[in-house]
Amino acid sequence: MRPIIKASAIGKEYRIGVRSTSQGSLREALAGAVRAPLRWARRRGEGDSAGAFWALKDVGFEIQPGEAIGIIGRNGAGKSTLLKILSRITEPTEGRIELYGRIASLLEVGTGFHPELTGRENIFLNGAILGMKRAEIARKFDEIVAFAEIEKFIDTPVKRYSSGMYVRLAFAVAAHLEPEILIVDEVLAVGDVAFQKKCLGQMSSVAQQGRTVLLVSHNMAAIKWMCSRALLLHQGRLVEEGSPAQVVNSYLWAGRNNRAEASWDDLSDAPGNEVFRLRGVRVRNAAGDVTSELTAQESFSIEVDYQNFSPVVSLGATVVLYNEEGVCVFSSLSNRETQWHGRVFPAGVFRSTCRVPGHLLPEGRFSVTG
Ligand SMILES: Nc1ncnc2c1ncn2[C@@H]1O[C@H](COP(=O)(O)OP(=O)(O)O)[C@@H](O)[C@H]1O
Ligand SMILES: [Mg+2]
Repeated sequence: MRPIIKASAIGKEYRIGVRSTSQGSLREALAGAVRAPLRWARRRGEGDSAGAFWALKDVGFEIQPGEAIGIIGRNGAGKSTLLKILSRITEPTEGRIELYGRIASLLEVGTGFHPELTGRENIFLNGAILGMKRAEIARKFDEIVAFAEIEKFIDTPVKRYSSGMYVRLAFAVAAHLEPEILIVDEVLAVGDVAFQKKCLGQMSSVAQQGRTVLLVSHNMAAIKWMCSRALLLHQGRLVEEGSPAQVVNSYLWAGRNNRAEASWDDLSDAPGNEVFRLRGVRVRNAAGDVTSELTAQESFSIEVDYQNFSPVVSLGATVVLYNEEGVCVFSSLSNRETQWHGRVFPAGVFRSTCRVPGHLLPEGRFSVTG
């Protein structure tokens, strides 16, 4: 069978501090206004002193029609860059992409939506971008609005929508306008659990209709449930592909070796961005010892140390615990913390501690991310 997507030796080089505006597509022009304010939070490129680095390098794969592909990897691995290249929102610096189908993509919040236009107008605009006739779009219209649960706001400009409404509409549009290829980047992190389930159900029915789905998600259970194959990106390279169970497992356990502590002496290597970087993360038992061996009965804590570079931000820490199957067991936000939450942080080193009571978790192996 002829693949519906073929990527050969794709590379994407970013020049630090330079944003390309000249070669943008229509979609990029539409979405640019919405995305611009998010840019400040981007991580500066690592390494290359010339101010350029490769966000993707030598990535090649083939996807058959009807496959549901999960793409996983840490923050900064290049997942969104890959989806943007596949969606033709940005050009690869090198390599070749072949696509044999109409694509609908839901990338960062705002992609493809014009802020000044209403929900109704954006639905028609997106349909037109997908090459659909007005009558075809009109037939899908009610279904889209109902799925997105925005009946009351359909004639309001989308710039007035909450981020949840925005994403619900964007997802509904992408999933209902009958694309041959549906590309979805991490939207499942937004919205409530009920909506996330609905999205997953919709994506899997899109896949069952024989359409091709590419999904980036940190929800490992969703990847395993929905996808027929998974790709693992690490520092811009495709390091593994195979069954979702196998790839999720290598992602969750790669290099972890029961480590009770991770620390970064050289901050330029540390996870983070120009606003903050992690200095260390560790697990301590009730006695205060750093250890990865705990009994299910004992309480323990997870410490996150980070360096804040900016004197004008308010930071929050999130700790997420996964079990061996990659199911998120809990996540903890620092928004109940009374001393710092919501305040402006001065530059300096901070520690957030998540205290986990005894008897909370069953026996097993757990991993921590943030
Ligand atoms: N427009 C851009 N300009 C410069 N660097 C970028 C741009 N977009 C992404 N990057 C960088 O490329 C790397 C990969 O980013 P991304 O594809 O967003 O990763 P992921 O989606 O896996 O978290 C990161 O280091 C990120 O900061
Ligand atoms: Mg991303």
